[in-house]
Amino acid sequence: MANWVIVELNRNSTNCTKIIEDIVRIEKNIFPKHESLARSFDDELRKKNSGLLYSDVNGEVGGYVMYSWPSSLCATITKLAVKEDFRRQGHGEALLKAAIQKCRTRNVQRISLHVDPTRIPALNLYKKLGFQVDNLIEGYYSSDRNAYRMYLDFDTD
Ligand SMILES: CC(C)(COP(=O)(O)OP(=O)(O)OC[C@H]1O[C@@H](n2cnc3c(N)ncnc32)[C@H](O)[C@@H]1OP(=O)(O)O)[C@@H](O)C(=O)NCCC(=O)NCCS
Repeated sequence: MANWVIVELNRNSTNCTKIIEDIVRIEKNIFPKHESLARSFDDELRKKNSGLLYSDVNGEVGGYVMYSWPSSLCATITKLAVKEDFRRQGHGEALLKAAIQKCRTRNVQRISLHVDPTRIPALNLYKKLGFQVDNLIEGYYSSDRNAYRMYLDFDTD
């Protein structure tokens, strides 16, 4: 199994363009067009209060997670994906844990996300790390694709 580390994307680093190109390629492969951030990735990353972590496998992107904290109360996991060759090796869990940790340092009370209920691996992973289903939003992704809204609350004491 290859060695890998979780890295925070630094927009000033020399390899930033290559990393974003890698991520856009993975994004296009995994997600249908209307669900993909491929075309708006750069804009998303420029937004204030957002961050991106990726797993670095000898300079190659294994997976990535994008998160944002639009308010001091709530953060959002906007994207999580692992390249097929690197699945079931712990990247997804490590990325999500790292993103949760980043959100915690912002002192938010809740992290929320949306996931298609048919994405069983993702659903299992979110549940494993403590997320609970809030409600089902019909037609969230497209007319025939729903989403669970899920959340993870932190103790406020
Ligand atoms: C969801 C995803 C990110 C998981 O990444 P991964 O690196 O393979 O996951 P990990 O190896 O870290 O597994 C962590 C947990 O996820 C769940 N999981 C992962 N793959 C699974 C599978 N094929 N079937 C069932 N559960 C699975 C399990 O709970 C697993 O814990 P366990 O190993 O103790 O059983 C990956 O499958 C993926 O990119 N899917 C397509 C994109 C997607 O659905 N993104 C989320 C919606 S935005």
